[in-house]
Amino acid sequence: MEESHRTKETFNVTPWEVSGPVDYDKLLHQFGVKRLDHILLSRVKKLSGERLHPMIRRNFVYAHRDLDLILNDYESGKGFFIYTGRGPSGPMHIGHLVPLLFNKWLQDTFDLNLHIQVTDDEKFVYKQDAKWEDIDHHTKQNLIDIAALGFNPDKTFIFRDSEYIKNTYPLLLKIAKKITLSTARATFGFQNETNLGLTFYPVYQIATTFFEEKRCLVPCAIDQDPYFRMQRDIAESLGFKKTATLYSKFLPSLTGTYGKMSSSLADTAIWLDDDEKKVKNKINKYAFSGGQATVEEHRRMGGNPEVDVSFQWLKILFEPSDPKLRVIEHDYHTGKLLTGELKQILIERVNSFLIAHREKRKRTEKELDRYMYSGKLAKQMWGKQF
Ligand code: TYM
Repeated sequence: MEESHRTKETFNVTPWEVSGPVDYDKLLHQFGVKRLDHILLSRVKKLSGERLHPMIRRNFVYAHRDLDLILNDYESGKGFFIYTGRGPSGPMHIGHLVPLLFNKWLQDTFDLNLHIQVTDDEKFVYKQDAKWEDIDHHTKQNLIDIAALGFNPDKTFIFRDSEYIKNTYPLLLKIAKKITLSTARATFGFQNETNLGLTFYPVYQIATTFFEEKRCLVPCAIDQDPYFRMQRDIAESLGFKKTATLYSKFLPSLTGTYGKMSSSLADTAIWLDDDEKKVKNKINKYAFSGGQATVEEHRRMGGNPEVDVSFQWLKILFEPSDPKLRVIEHDYHTGKLLTGELKQILIERVNSFLIAHREKRKRTEKELDRYMYSGKLAKQMWGKQF
C-alpha cells in the first residue's frame, strides 16, 4: 500500500497494541498530554550544559506531563528520580532500547537515580499461552541486555516484579484499593474475558513511581501513558506526588514509518542478537524506501527522507551528528545518494552498534548483581519495605 493512503486510516495506541498510521499530534489531544514547547526545551538545554540529546533535539521525544515541575524541583535543589521499564515477553529489539538509551542520557546528564522495572508478571498474565519457564528465561536474558547499556551501577535499581514483590505488596494493595474495576476498564479496555492477573498488574507499574520521596519522571514511549494517567488520579490521595512523564514517538518497523517496531512482526524488527548477515538482509529486503523506482528517476527527482525508514532510523538512533545527518538528508533529497547507498550506511551503523552491544553483554553477566542487589541504590531498595 502507498504510504500516502495510510494517512486516511484510523490508528490505535494502547500499552499492548499500536496499529494504523499514528498521528502524534492527535495523540496529544486523545491522551491529554502536552507538547514539549520551546520554553521547556530551552530550559532542558540550559540545564544539560547546552547538550541536548538528539532524540529531544529532533522532536522524537516530543510530549510530557508536568516536566516544568520536574525542572523546578531540579533548579531548587529538591531533585527528582527517573523510572522506566520493560516487559520481558521475548527477546529485545532495537525499539526497546530507545527509552532505555534516553534514560541513560538523563541519568548521566543530571546524575539521577534510575529504577528499571522488568515486568515478568505482566507478560505472563498477558500472553495466554506463555509458560512461566519461558518468561523466566526471557527475563534473565533481557536483564543482561538492559544492564549492558552501562547505567551508573550505584544509582540504578533493576528489579523483576515477581522477586521484588516481597517488598512492595502492601503498597500495591493500597493502590489497588483506590482503583475501581470500572475505571480500569475505561482506561485499559479490560473485558469480561480479561484475567484477574492482568487487571491487577497496573498497580505495580504505578507503584514504582512511589519508590522515592522526590517527584518521579517516567521517560518512555507514549503507549504507556494510560498507567500514568491513572497514577496521577490517585497519587495525592495516598500522600504521594503525581508523576511527571516524558514521551517519545515510536521507532518504526522496517516496513514503514507509520507505526512501531513490534515483537509480533519478527522479520520487520532488528533483534539484539541478529548477526551481521541477518541485519544486512533484513534492511536490504524490508526497509521501506522513500526513493524512486529507478536510478534515473531517483537522480532526477530525489528521494523522500520523511518516509524512508533507513533515514528515520539514522535520525532517531544511529547518527548523532546533526551536520552529518543534514548531509545525508540533502544528498538523498536531491538524488545524489541512492536508496542502496543509504541502506548501506544504516547497515554499517546497526552492525557496529550490535557488535559492541554483544561484547558489553558478555562482560555484564558478572555485573548484573550490582544493578539488582549489591550496588548502592539496589541495597537501599532491598532495605525498604513499602
Ligand atoms: P514493553 O516491553 O512493551 O516496551 C518497553 C519500552 O519500550 C518502549 N517501546 C518503544 N519505544 C520506541 N519505539 C518502539 N518501537 C517501541 N516499542 C516499545 C515502550 O514504550 C516501553 O517504554 N508495561 C511495560 C513495562 C513497564 C514500563 C514501565 C515501561 C513497566 N513499567 C515504566 C515504561 C515505563 C512494557 O510492557 O513495555
